[in-house]
Amino acid sequence: MSCELWVVWFKVVLDRPPVPIVNKQNPFMAAASSDFRLDLTRRPRRMRRTASLRALANETDLQPHNLIQPLFVIEGEGAAEPIESMPGVVRLPIPLLVAECRELLALGIPAVALFPKLDAAVKTDDGREALNPNTLVLRAIRAIKAAVPEMAVITDLALDPYTVHGHDGLLDLATGDLANDATVEILAEMAVLAAEAGVDIVAPSDMMDGRVGAIREALDGNGFDTVAIMAYSAKFASAFYGPFRDAVGSASSAGTHHLDKRTYQLNPGNRREAMTEIALDEQEGADILMVKPAGPYLDIIREVRDATDFPLAAYQVSGEYAQILAAAERGWLDLERCRDESLLAIRRAGADMILTYFAKAYAEGVGR
Ligand code: PBG
Repeated sequence: MSCELWVVWFKVVLDRPPVPIVNKQNPFMAAASSDFRLDLTRRPRRMRRTASLRALANETDLQPHNLIQPLFVIEGEGAAEPIESMPGVVRLPIPLLVAECRELLALGIPAVALFPKLDAAVKTDDGREALNPNTLVLRAIRAIKAAVPEMAVITDLALDPYTVHGHDGLLDLATGDLANDATVEILAEMAVLAAEAGVDIVAPSDMMDGRVGAIREALDGNGFDTVAIMAYSAKFASAFYGPFRDAVGSASSAGTHHLDKRTYQLNPGNRREAMTEIALDEQEGADILMVKPAGPYLDIIREVRDATDFPLAAYQVSGEYAQILAAAERGWLDLERCRDESLLAIRRAGADMILTYFAKAYAEGVGR
């Protein structure tokens, strides 16, 4: 035998782990006991061998305190209303909403984002119900802050729950487009009303230009310099919002499931433009930046994370939730494992906090 061959023989024989007892009848075990050995310095699988080693090497953690639960609010004192396209998600009247907040806090979820579903009768072209000082969402904020004051309450600033057409702002009938500055004026007033009701964070979701700066100025000018702004900064014109529009009734009020918001929400293909929106919201005084949707936009989340030190939120939207639920209902996907993996991926991409309809179920799973 040549010298090299002896070296190989020694390596193979001496480097071998103890020979396992194999059942030669079993072809799989026979293959596993083959003498074939690669001469590898790096074997990354070494750190995946046991649950303990995998835990040591784990890079991404997802805890209930990273999650924000979106909640839909309705009038009255009756029962919860199911939402057809979002199985497991309901609209809650205020008494049940308060009870839900108590449960969420006990599960370790620090914040809720409120979305009102209004009766069609109060919707108008100009969405003036948004400025009613006793409108549903303001009563919901007051009730939660009175009963569960530790729960951080977030409310959207946008006109879509209040307008007949379902758009986020005032529709200029001459152009068929939204009137930017007139809409911002209303959003700033909505922010002050929400602050008076006790909100912790306002979340402009409308994508009008200049709204973050105007809202900051209005809040500060009215003595609310502690109220934070979570800016829906990179919000894309996504088809994944479909089930949400059923939930708040903005799709049906517009008479279509394809409410077109492309003159204000971002083109899904535009990465650089998303970064421009992020930079503007930083300059205008946002406290938290957001990317939305989350799952189909993980690259944007990563890019924002690398470009800024601001707290970063990502919104796993209604359609992302619905697609996992629908496939699981058919037995095609494992609901809990796909839920957890989808959320972990958003954290790995760089989100500090995630708005998700899975928040409560995830927190219950962690406690189990
Ligand atoms: C409205 C708003 C939307 C969502 C949050 N705020 C929908 C839209 O822009 O039409 C979507 C949330 C979801 O799909 O879960 N300004």
